[in-house]
Amino acid sequence: MKTTFGPQKILFPMPVSLVVTGNMGKANIVTIAWVTLLTSAPPTLGISVGTKGFSGEQIKENKHFTVNIASADKMTEADYCGIVSGREVDKFEKTGFTKLPSRHIDSPIIKECPLNIECELVSASLVGRTNHFIGRILEVHMDTDKLKDPDNPGTYLTELMNPLIYMGGAREYRKIGGKIGDAYSIGKKLKER
Ligand SMILES: Cc1cc2nc3c(=O)[nH]c(=O)nc-3n(C[C@H](O)[C@H](O)[C@H](O)COP(=O)(O)O)c2cc1C
Repeated sequence: MKTTFGPQKILFPMPVSLVVTGNMGKANIVTIAWVTLLTSAPPTLGISVGTKGFSGEQIKENKHFTVNIASADKMTEADYCGIVSGREVDKFEKTGFTKLPSRHIDSPIIKECPLNIECELVSASLVGRTNHFIGRILEVHMDTDKLKDPDNPGTYLTELMNPLIYMGGAREYRKIGGKIGDAYSIGKKLKER
């Protein structure tokens, strides 16, 4: 049996991303769980950013932002960036996160996040009270000590990346579990039957 709930904004799991806007001098961090890759050529990603917050204004003004994937050991800092506004506080100062310069844009990346993505704004649209921003991915940074092969981004060690997971609806944070199979491969078992 199933129960229906009508249109709900519920989805899980979601990575907790910390979106950095502004520049090295004045940067803001906003917690954004509504993030997804959109296209591979050119590589783009999309984020949903509420119109009430400060970050949306900064992205529209500066036309760039970085997406930084939070690790589970930075849960408290990541949550903090999602409950206060950059209009009132300097979130870099409060959290102790370290700004590192990006390669192609003015918005910095966060040193303590194991994956950092530089984006240039290529499209902005308004759906209800939410900005849908599409960013073209210009650069990807990863922690070298979390890669098996420093030249191959796909060889990251999941346990070391330790991404922070958000369960939408339940409003809880989780850690990732162990590996259970190889993608694009395990399903072949059913092909052969
Ligand atoms: C776990 C979590 C996920 C969130 N995801 C989003 C999101 O996807 N989009 C959004 O607009 N706000 C999201 N928020 C809320 C914003 O982070 C929050 O409104 C923030 O205070 C806005 O900060 P700003 O004014 O500095 O932009 C989330 C908050 C938390 C705690």
